[in-house]
Order: sequence, then structure tokens, then C-alpha cells
Amino acid sequence: MNSGRRGDATDSTDTSGPVVVSIGGGKGGVGKTVVTANLAVALSAEGRRVVAVDADLEGANLHTLLGSPPPPYGLADFVAHREDDIGKLMIETPIPGLRLIAGTHSNLGAAQPSQNRRVQLMRSLRELDSDFVLIDLGAGTHASALDYFLVAHVGIVVLAPEPTSVENAYGFLRAAFYRRLRLSMLGHRVRKVVTEAMDQRNQRGIRTPFDLLREVEALDPEDGARFVSTVRDFRPRLIVNGVRSADDVKLGFSVCSVCRKHFGFDPEYLGYVNHDEAVRLSVSARQPVLDFQSGSDASIYLQRIARKLAETHAL
Ligand SMILES: Nc1ncnc2c1ncn2[C@@H]1O[C@H](COP(=O)(O)OP(=O)(O)OP(=O)(O)O)[C@@H](O)[C@H]1O
Ligand SMILES: [Mg+2]
Repeated sequence: MNSGRRGDATDSTDTSGPVVVSIGGGKGGVGKTVVTANLAVALSAEGRRVVAVDADLEGANLHTLLGSPPPPYGLADFVAHREDDIGKLMIETPIPGLRLIAGTHSNLGAAQPSQNRRVQLMRSLRELDSDFVLIDLGAGTHASALDYFLVAHVGIVVLAPEPTSVENAYGFLRAAFYRRLRLSMLGHRVRKVVTEAMDQRNQRGIRTPFDLLREVEALDPEDGARFVSTVRDFRPRLIVNGVRSADDVKLGFSVCSVCRKHFGFDPEYLGYVNHDEAVRLSVSARQPVLDFQSGSDASIYLQRIARKLAETHAL
């Protein structure tokens, strides 16, 4: 994650264009799309211009949660080189101030973009005339999800309070962290060592990022220094969704402390969202829960998180 005025920058020259927020987390069905849609709605209700982007090409459904009809075109057209101007793929939504770049109208066999196309996409999104761009990454830890997560100003991991989701969230954070480290190392040999370390059973006996740092420093002290600053700048955010108890709320703090202890980076716990029947009903009604039941618990917590985002990334 890469921010200028936006908090924890690694790229201090980046002072214009929208704040790009990516929402992922590895596990399917934990609420990534619900969170993306409703944060987008909450930010636009605060007067921000927002573009929501559905990068979940295999299961695109952000449009449904925003109450838009099946879109005529979307990101898949950019990925397949049918349209190069990302701005032309934007559609209006029923929500004032909120536009959408939908995923695809045909979910079957959607291809992931090449690395070049991913770079072009992120560049184009950063040039959109908007205050915020929110990207729903979908499930999984494929290269596109990791790259969109890493180049965003704010990368949010959504997890649910259940072991499988927590496991996948760690998997996602770990994969993103190592990818970020590898990309920031300049030396060819150092990069190779980082790649080897990504395999937890590697022959070199590197088990933790601290072991890895020792190896990197031994090979190249300058890459060692880059390693340290990359770890310091890696600041993923966490949202626990579907909370039913005080222990569920605490989960966010435990994940942060495990990351600090085992990886050395320090995520920020952005907040939690209660488990709330209103969310399920709002999805059935094809409406964001913020519009469907603005006074519901889930709406109130989602608004709180959106406000935090808007305040931290004031324009
Ligand atoms: N806070 C909540 N309270 C109650 N139900 C919820 C909550 N958040 C999500 N849900 C339910 O979980 C379902 C899945 O949510 P959502 O589609 O956002 O998950 P996802 O992480 O985007 O899934 P996928 O990985 O398949 O894209 C919703 O349709 C809704 O019924
Ligand atoms: Mg989804």
C-alpha cells in the first residue's frame, strides 16, 4: 500500500487523484462485496465522489448490491482489450455521487488480466476524476488481487469470525507481504531468496521474516535497509464482519498482534460490523443496507468505518 497525503506513504509524490481503496481477504463469502458497496454508499452520502470497481471477474455481483441492473459492459472489456478507456466503462448507479465499473456481464471463463494490463488499469483508476475509488477484489490470493491490494493507498482485509476465514486472512496478508517485499528488493539474488522464503518449508530454513532479513542483510545491506522500510510501510487495514460477541470484536486486535509478532508489520484495525439480518434482507432486496435500513446496526458500523476512512484520507 502506497500513500502520500493519505497516511502511510511510500510514494510521497502521489498527491493528486482519488484515494484508491482495495477490499480483499482471501476467503469467499465473508462480506467483501457488502463492505465495498456500503462503504461506497456511505462515502458518497458524505458528499464524496466515489467510483466502485468490481475486480471480482469470476463472481462479479457488486452491481447487484448497489441496485444496478445487469451492466452492459465492465472491467472484463478492459481486460480483454475491447475498451482501453476505463472512463467509458463507468455507469451511473441509483446512488447520487456513486458510479460503478462493473465486473462483467458474463461470468464464465473470465480471464485474469496480464501484469501489463493490471499496471495500466491501476494507472487509469488513479487518473479518474473522483475522490475515492473502491475496488472489490473478490476471493483468493491470485496475483491480480495481491497487486491491486498492494498498489492501493488503503488495502482492507475483510475477515469473518470463524477459523477458516482467519486462516485465509493470514494467508492473504502473508502472500501480499512477501510479494511486496520481493517487489521492493533490487538485487537479483536477494529477490531469489525472498521467493524461496515464500515456501514455508524452504531448504534454507527461513521460517520468519526476521530470518529472511538476516539473509537479505548478509547478501546486500542496502536491500536490507529497503526490507526494513518496506515492512514499516506495509500497513494493511482489517475489518471483522459478521460480529456476534465481544470475543469476535477482539479478533481484529489479535490478528494485528499476531502480524506484529510473526511478520513484524503492524496492521490497523479499522473496525467491525455486527452480524445483522438486515444485511441478508438488503442483499435479497438488491439494495445497499445503508439505504435498505439506515438505522440498522450494520449500517451504523459501516458508516463509522467510512467516516474514519474519509477523515484519515481527507482531501
Ligand atoms: N454483517 C453481516 N450480517 C449478516 N449477514 C451478512 C453480513 N455481511 C454479509 N452477510 C451475508 O453474507 C453474504 C455474502 O456476502 P458478500 O457477497 O459480501 O461476501 P463476499 O466476501 O463478497 O463473497 P465472495 O468472495 O463470494 O465475493 C451476503 O449475501 C449476506 O447475506
Ligand atoms: Mg463478493
